[in-house]
Amino acid sequence: MESPFKPDVVKGKVALITGGGSGIGFEISSQFGKHGGSIAIMGRRKQVLDDAVNALRSLGIQAIGLEGDVRKQEDARRVVESTFQHFGKIDVLVNAAAGNFLAAAEDLSPNGFRTVLDIDAVGTFNMCHAALKYLKKDGPGRDSSSGGGSIINISATLHYPASWYQIHVSAAKAAVDATTRNLALEWGTDYDIRVNGIAPGPIGGTPGMSKLVPEEIENKTREYMPLYKLGEKWDIAMAALYLSCDSGKFVNGLTMVVDGGLWLSKPRH
Ligand code: HXC
Repeated sequence: MESPFKPDVVKGKVALITGGGSGIGFEISSQFGKHGGSIAIMGRRKQVLDDAVNALRSLGIQAIGLEGDVRKQEDARRVVESTFQHFGKIDVLVNAAAGNFLAAAEDLSPNGFRTVLDIDAVGTFNMCHAALKYLKKDGPGRDSSSGGGSIINISATLHYPASWYQIHVSAAKAAVDATTRNLALEWGTDYDIRVNGIAPGPIGGTPGMSKLVPEEIENKTREYMPLYKLGEKWDIAMAALYLSCDSGKFVNGLTMVVDGGLWLSKPRH
């Protein structure tokens, strides 16, 4: 689908995108690149990173891949430093790395619970913390007229009500949303950094959908949920563009729900 944004809307900006090698993260990487941005992708799997970087470069996008695990503070610091060394600045941090699986609470080990909190919530904080000095207004490489950078945390709507077999992810995404609001308050006030989130609904063609919503569940859901339809990765990438360019310059502390209204819906009687 054609983008409603001008092709140079993030021209000259540098984005570091965790989990940017696949799924929603990759679509954000490629749309950011198609609109003039340069991209650093962080991920754990070298082959996924290499394939993603090659795909971006074949579109003429400046991109690098950096191996690392967001759970490790030293990886977060190293990847942020390498991004700065390569591109000379960092304008946007997108935290899209996430872990997920279906597990009933009684069958989920405490370590399984902690693992997802570590990836989603602690990982998001690690990256924000490591990137702070580069995102600050007047930080290294920033020109004083462009203000501070911005952060986008990819969340979910699972924790707005309660979601079957997703206690770990719900707790993790609730923490991510709180992190978004608190950093928006502190770093928006002190450093002119905008911190927002995006809460996608079910998005077609993502690892999350294939893991969490097998096809038969999807079909059954369609029958009773009037608003149910699959979103596209494109929808999330457009929201990320909106939040990271001047269109979103007065938006801070928001987690934007991009789900077609699904989480509001109840079965039709
Ligand atoms: C129960 C599980 C499990 C499963 C792992 N664990 N998978 N428990 N069911 N299917 C438990 C393990 O038993 C272990 O606990 C603990 O979690 C750590 O497991 P490891 O395999 O050692 O961890 P690790 O290699 O770090 O992998 C963690 C991972 C991750 C969470 C499984 O690799 C992962 O999810 N990768 C896929 C990424 C992904 O799908 N991303 C898309 C997210 S979609 P014990 O006690 O045995 O030591 C998304 C969308 C949400 O977030 C919104 C949807 C609408």
